[in-house]
Amino acid sequence: MINKDAAPQESGGSELSFDEFDEMRTPAPEVTGFERVVAAVVSRRGFLAGGMAWGSAAFVAGSTVPPNRRAQANERLEFEAIAANTQDTVTLPPGFSWHTVARWGDPLWADGAEFDQATRGTGESQERVIGDNIDGMYVFSRGDRHVLAVNNEYTNNDIIHANRQSKKPEAPDDFRKSKAAHGISFAEISQREGKWSIVKDSPYNRRITADTPIEISGPARGHRLMKTAADPAGTSALGTWNNCGGGHTPWGTYLSCEENFNGYFSASDATFEPNPDMKRYGIGAKDWGYRWATVDERFDFSRHPNEPNRAGYVVEVDPMNPSSAPRKLTALGRFKHENVEVVVAANSQVVVYMGDDERGEFLYRYVSRGSYAVGADNAILLEDGTLYAAKFSENMRGEWVALTPETTGMASLAEICIHTRHAASARGATTMDRPEWVAVSADRNEVYCCLTNNKDRGKKPNRGGDDGRTNGPNPRVGNPFGQIVRWRPDNGDHTANGFAWELFVLAGNPAIYSYEFAGSDNVTEQNMFNSPDGLAFDSNGLLWIQTDGNYSNKGEFAGMGNNQMLVGDPATGEIRRFMVGPRQCEVTGIAWSSDKKTMFVGIQHPGERGGDSHFPDGPQSVPRSAVIAVTRDDGGTIG
Ligand code: FEO
Ligand code: CA
Ligand code: CA
Repeated sequence: MINKDAAPQESGGSELSFDEFDEMRTPAPEVTGFERVVAAVVSRRGFLAGGMAWGSAAFVAGSTVPPNRRAQANERLEFEAIAANTQDTVTLPPGFSWHTVARWGDPLWADGAEFDQATRGTGESQERVIGDNIDGMYVFSRGDRHVLAVNNEYTNNDIIHANRQSKKPEAPDDFRKSKAAHGISFAEISQREGKWSIVKDSPYNRRITADTPIEISGPARGHRLMKTAADPAGTSALGTWNNCGGGHTPWGTYLSCEENFNGYFSASDATFEPNPDMKRYGIGAKDWGYRWATVDERFDFSRHPNEPNRAGYVVEVDPMNPSSAPRKLTALGRFKHENVEVVVAANSQVVVYMGDDERGEFLYRYVSRGSYAVGADNAILLEDGTLYAAKFSENMRGEWVALTPETTGMASLAEICIHTRHAASARGATTMDRPEWVAVSADRNEVYCCLTNNKDRGKKPNRGGDDGRTNGPNPRVGNPFGQIVRWRPDNGDHTANGFAWELFVLAGNPAIYSYEFAGSDNVTEQNMFNSPDGLAFDSNGLLWIQTDGNYSNKGEFAGMGNNQMLVGDPATGEIRRFMVGPRQCEVTGIAWSSDKKTMFVGIQHPGERGGDSHFPDGPQSVPRSAVIAVTRDDGGTIG
């Protein structure tokens, strides 16, 4: 036996070196999951050189980065990074300009009233204008006609109802206005003298609101849990709301994601106890201030307990056919849908990646049963397929686990599509730090997802009681800053069940922290940010990152300024700040014109906390969510 209190030379001829002896006396702490993850992030550059970080099992021959790609990639970032700020405007690098395309309250038809600064509109006027809280968007082009589809996620009582003393909805018309400010807006836009604006009275202009009839498609259509007093067949819902991110299909339809749908339901019967299914989805006795149940009893779940089962889906709309019926796609599951990223796999099956934005909830994939064919009727592809949830392992590998009656023990596919969170819990899927947008890389080989933050990580389980401890891609307790995970499907096949993963970035504040909350090595005092949320690849392969975070610019967020948009280079890990939004806004929603000379960006709820924002129209004006267009002064392409 070696005397652990003695130096090697005192240990009676031991052959231990000083290092070994020192290690024995003061054992190094076990390498933690966090350190392994950091090591993987740091070794990203090793991956570029030799493909180490992704793990040999998943390494795809032929997909290595060319030796000169790093230099090429840096040249693609053709702008001067800007500093964080707290100004009440949009700030861009030199050589770029912006203008407003569409604001909350802008009329879609010539008979629509212009925005009234005093009343902020009426129920009737709101039905004829762009909705509030701009979020996910896409621009559909057919020849020289361009249709902007944009989500209207929610409303802020302090802004939309500021004409009331209480700053709350009071009169019946206030509720009509509120419901009409939600949903989806479709507006044809055109460019004149370099500026985009709404084409009033275009046949493509359309509003879909919380009162628009919507077909229910897929496995849950007609299921007993979907039947209500207003719809005994369970086949047609009324309205869509809290439309967050979105997506689009190869066949030209728009996809809109219902996120915090639960916040609109309440119970008039104080003794009504929400069942566990309701609790898992956050359906509680009080709504989040919308008070819709006071005028529309379907939002009173103590009277209509199946109504909440008809929200929390992805809605598909054909933007080029304004009389077509929108459809709720129950096959894509029910949860707090953030966005959808659709990719056609090599074998032509359609794969959809989706996040459930709630602390400790899951990341999902859907694989269609049938195959995509150009010109065919592809509607069935999002009605019939298999849902999967992601399981990440500490060894940088991951697996998609199928959610079927056989694997979950649930009674039917319909129930899996309605209570999708239960199904993923039954399979032991990995609890995530609030999955927001998912984006597939331009070369289609990699998938990225923003994990925005999670104050509960390491502190408590999710609502279903699933393990809330730190895990591979979610390595930090109480995570205030967020991270971006990326993975590569085995063999480049998006239908494969195996993948290799690593973190692209751990956001943090290196001015304050020196360890895990400093972030990964591609975060500096110059580019730091928190709460990555919106995410999209441009056609050059650069990753645009939008934030929805703490904009206090104080404490551990000091130096980060307002919410913003940054550009990441997947090849090098470099991240540069491209844009800073106005005060108290979230930057969310991004799309490009077909010629790539305009980038459309959503500025959501400037001045949401009554802060001194008058974006975009300046002093004295009501702050309004807006779609802005960003262009290059030299007329070049931007992504
Ligand atoms: Fe609507 Fe999770 O953002
Ligand atoms: Ca979001
Ligand atoms: Ca968010």
